[in-house]
Amino acid sequence: MFILDLILKKRNGMKLNWDEIEYFVRGYTNGDIEDYQAAAFLMAVFFQGMDADETLCLTEAMLNSGDIVDLSEIPGIKTDKHSTGGVGDKTTLIVAPIVASCGVPVAKMSGRGLGHTGGTIDKLESIPGFQTSLTREQLISNVKEIGLAIAGQTGNLAPADKKIYALRDVTGTIENISLIAASIMSKKLASGSDAIVLDVKAGSGAFMKSKNEAEKLAKMMVEISRGAGKKAVAVLTAMDSPLGMSIGNALEVAEAVDILKGHGPTDLKEICIELAANMLMLGGKGSLDNCRKLSAKSLSDGTAFEKLLEMVKRQGGDPSVLEDTGKLPMASVKVDYKAERTGYIIQMNAEKFGMASAALGAGRKTITDTVDPSAGIVLLKKYGDIVEKGEPIAILHTSKKEKNSEALEILKGSVLTGEKPPPKVPIILGRIE
Ligand code: URA
Repeated sequence: MFILDLILKKRNGMKLNWDEIEYFVRGYTNGDIEDYQAAAFLMAVFFQGMDADETLCLTEAMLNSGDIVDLSEIPGIKTDKHSTGGVGDKTTLIVAPIVASCGVPVAKMSGRGLGHTGGTIDKLESIPGFQTSLTREQLISNVKEIGLAIAGQTGNLAPADKKIYALRDVTGTIENISLIAASIMSKKLASGSDAIVLDVKAGSGAFMKSKNEAEKLAKMMVEISRGAGKKAVAVLTAMDSPLGMSIGNALEVAEAVDILKGHGPTDLKEICIELAANMLMLGGKGSLDNCRKLSAKSLSDGTAFEKLLEMVKRQGGDPSVLEDTGKLPMASVKVDYKAERTGYIIQMNAEKFGMASAALGAGRKTITDTVDPSAGIVLLKKYGDIVEKGEPIAILHTSKKEKNSEALEILKGSVLTGEKPPPKVPIILGRIE
């Protein structure tokens, strides 16, 4: 078999068989196929697409390129969640404790932030002492004892995806539904849970800008999961505006604690209850409606917050910063971002807010950059609110004063205003089972 034949076949719009897809994945991962030919192959896939069969094969080939975590020692149906990435998306910090506090085990492996989106591991590391590197044995014993652990990826999960993703990132081949679905699902399936809830975002701050595209991606991921013999549900959620009121690592931990203590913004709370309910349903806790009630109760009676405290103690973190979030790392410099015009906010570009937060120090440009746990943005206004020209819309937090000008430059034009209140938009856009 020759890679050139596969490039030509895909370029000409033909379907690849399993042997050919495996040949590409194996050959590129072990270095037999060069970057330039892999890039041409990915570009052919980008333009011609892959059908469900080809996408399942690509996923399985990437999944089988590395370790597959065995969580079978943990009793019960282990559930996992994955978000396709958003701005202000701290849902894992809330959803995982809800689900665990309702008796469904969660052994979650999460990632770091890259680009304009944040990552759960960076957020958790803003809690002093919190250990995100757990061995497989530690992960399993924590979940067996307290029902919950969140750790960075252990071992060598889907190394083919790591290599292919890095190449896609620099060759303009990220935004293809089959490539995204295979990339996400190879890692999720390698993480060992029995059931997966996918939070597929649609909007300006997401990979998928339209609901239609998000729905296609969601269907493909659910189908891959079924093909691999695991239960999955996808919830489509809006990512036109940042989620909640805070963006940035410690700021998002504080907001997650607020929700877990029964307060916090309603958009965030609604998404968390829906995601947790779907995980509980897959975990065998009854109908979706019943699971929504269980989730809401664990927030209002404080059991989900207690579960987060338990996990933080267990993973070496200082639980007192959750009792009093004023003790979390705090920025030394705070600057207002002010309204450019008077009117109702009709658009708040999530991607620009994410990029501005990253510029303040909350994100990284390359995987080796370090993040400033205190940096980020706190919104004072949201979509639909009325603002006066010059009134603060958000507060920028950073420990380096010089970063403010770059962030303010990015935010220019990110908030649009109109004369009339905009229509109410739902935060949950659909569900695919
Ligand atoms: N997240 C992933 O892990 N992979 C993609 O291709 C896109 C988002």
